[in-house]
Amino acid sequence: MPIESEVLRSVLGNFCTGVTVITAFDGDQPYGFACQSVTSLSLEPPFVSFCPAKTSSSWPKMRQAGKICINVLSEDQLDVCQRFASRGGNKFEGAQWEHGANGAPSLAGSLARIEADVEVEHEAGDHTIVIARVTHLEVHREVPPLLFFRGKFGSFVPAQPAGV
Ligand SMILES: Cc1cc2nc3c(=O)[nH]c(=O)nc-3n(C[C@H](O)[C@H](O)[C@H](O)COP(=O)(O)O)c2cc1C
Repeated sequence: MPIESEVLRSVLGNFCTGVTVITAFDGDQPYGFACQSVTSLSLEPPFVSFCPAKTSSSWPKMRQAGKICINVLSEDQLDVCQRFASRGGNKFEGAQWEHGANGAPSLAGSLARIEADVEVEHEAGDHTIVIARVTHLEVHREVPPLLFFRGKFGSFVPAQPAGV
């Protein structure tokens, strides 16, 4: 029986993730989009992966730039997530950012930043799997992350071990 997209979306929404904004600077313009499909892929060599939708208008420009920054969002950055989950317009207007070590935009207030070079892309249905080599990374704040679960945003609460 075929799996309906809505069922797929709804059940996979039970897999809670963090939220990032992936950015790049192409020519003279910054680009970015909100992205949850980030994975720590390999330690040796240091690879991360993420999956832009084929419909992404930013990714074709960012791919050309080749150097990206994965900005891991803090719990107080819901507005940043929503800004970068939109389409069209200048998403960076009024946003606080600076060029990172590789030139890609580093967003102020992010929890951590991972800079990487796009290494290879694989076609995968209506998305593309991007594998990128990490070139620089740092933690910026000691605050909880922004989380995404069942279509809603939230924060992290450490679990209590049994018997405590
Ligand atoms: C929490 C969250 C996670 C998202 N994860 C992804 C993702 O992994 N891949 C993707 O292509 N879009 C993802 N999106 C949607 C894009 O951010 C959205 O489609 C954006 O408008 C694309 O902008 P663009 O056309 O400038 O690329 C996510 C959105 C939200 C709110």
